[in-house]
Amino acid sequence: MAFELKYRKDITQLQKEASEDTELKRTLGPWQLVALGIGAIIGAGLFSLTGIAAADHAGPAVTISFIIAAVGCAFAGLCYAEFASMIPIAGSAYTYSYATLGEMFAWVIGWDLVLEYAVGASTVAISWSAYLVKFLEYFQIHLPSWMIASPWQMIKLESGMEVTGFINLPAMFIVFAMSTLLIIGIQESARANAVIVFLKIAVVIIFIGLGFMFVNSDNLVPFIPENTGSFGHFGWSGIFKAAGVVFFAFIGFDAVSTAAQEAKNPQRDMPIGILGSLAVCTVLYVLFSYVMVGMVPYTAFKGAAAPVAVAIAATPFTWLKPAINLAIIAGYSSVILVMLLGQSRVFYTMSKDGLIPKIFSDTHPRFKTPWKSNILFAIMVSLFAGLMPIALVGEMTSVGTLFAFMMVCIAVWILRRKEPGRERPFKTPWVPFVPIAGIISCGVLLMALFLDQTHGREHMLRFGAWLVIGGIIYFTYSIKHSKIRAQQGQN
Ligand code: ALA
Repeated sequence: MAFELKYRKDITQLQKEASEDTELKRTLGPWQLVALGIGAIIGAGLFSLTGIAAADHAGPAVTISFIIAAVGCAFAGLCYAEFASMIPIAGSAYTYSYATLGEMFAWVIGWDLVLEYAVGASTVAISWSAYLVKFLEYFQIHLPSWMIASPWQMIKLESGMEVTGFINLPAMFIVFAMSTLLIIGIQESARANAVIVFLKIAVVIIFIGLGFMFVNSDNLVPFIPENTGSFGHFGWSGIFKAAGVVFFAFIGFDAVSTAAQEAKNPQRDMPIGILGSLAVCTVLYVLFSYVMVGMVPYTAFKGAAAPVAVAIAATPFTWLKPAINLAIIAGYSSVILVMLLGQSRVFYTMSKDGLIPKIFSDTHPRFKTPWKSNILFAIMVSLFAGLMPIALVGEMTSVGTLFAFMMVCIAVWILRRKEPGRERPFKTPWVPFVPIAGIISCGVLLMALFLDQTHGREHMLRFGAWLVIGGIIYFTYSIKHSKIRAQQGQN
């Protein structure tokens, strides 16, 4: 361990690198950063998981689950804000770990972030495809079943027959479309994201406003249904389990920090982007979930693929269904966009540090984007989205993200002790209380996922296997090409 700490990045050096690196273009202002956060946050978690979390785990108390998940994210968000303003580098949690815990931990986090960003993007792409298929059906357009699902995924035909697919082409298409946008430019991507975010927020607010009129207080009683006798099925354990599930809905605010090298004034605007997007989404989520479980009995969401449609069916506003469907299609696109952005930027930094091949940091001379990296991830993420079942990838995203959040909280605390006098444009309040609370709350949510009787063991094994693969790459490639080791005469 001690020998690893030797390979630590110097923060002053990192700050210099951030200000001198002109390969990426600095164009983003505070509002665009907030929009980037919201673009990544509101997506499948809200529109698909709220119903599942209510029906299977928490009942109407899913609203409390959203608050618990938000509190955990707020602690982590405050820690991210301190680092992102102090070390505004595209590597985000990876770089923060490099500066505090050393190269090996940094590698673990960089590798772990693939679960959040690349795997997260494929998860949402699979959901995107399902909503597109449904949207086209409103216009009597029926895509053949072989091209709308992976070989692992069952789909129900209109006749009621269940079949598997062959490849999920719409999911692959959206990954390529968003990657193309990212290659063309950060400003163009941010503009497209802003339009989508506007639409997405408008629809969420319309749903909350109209839905409020149909809240039936009978549906909210009992607010916390009694535990069935097993962990995670209603009662307080169910509320925590549901918090672990809906945590997915908050993922994305941290992706703002990967745009640090494309922000005009990162020292001031990073905290605004990270905390602003998280605050806006928390308010919307709590209201949205309250209205949803108030409109219909929570049991109605059992097994519902489109829970929002179930709630809307309780109102006379049937026109809302295609409108929401369209907003979801657009909304998921921005989640995929920002996740792919985060992935390419973290690998950009890792490649600059020599831990992965140079191809990941080659920027396009005109577009000023890491285009080769974008193309490689377009291929990898789309193959994953096209051929993998969603159940396999979904919760791994939360596992990876929670792990990264915990590391960032630990790193803030350590750096405060090691370098208390260093200038911090944004300071996390009440250190060490906030980082410790962040570690505990993210740890509890992670445990809720690992202790789950159905998939917990699989999650643990998959996560372990992922880290082992990363370890092999680190020891066979990265330490031989590491720039910091070369500087210290180790290579
Ligand atoms: N928070 C994002 C979503 O819910 C990942 O889709």
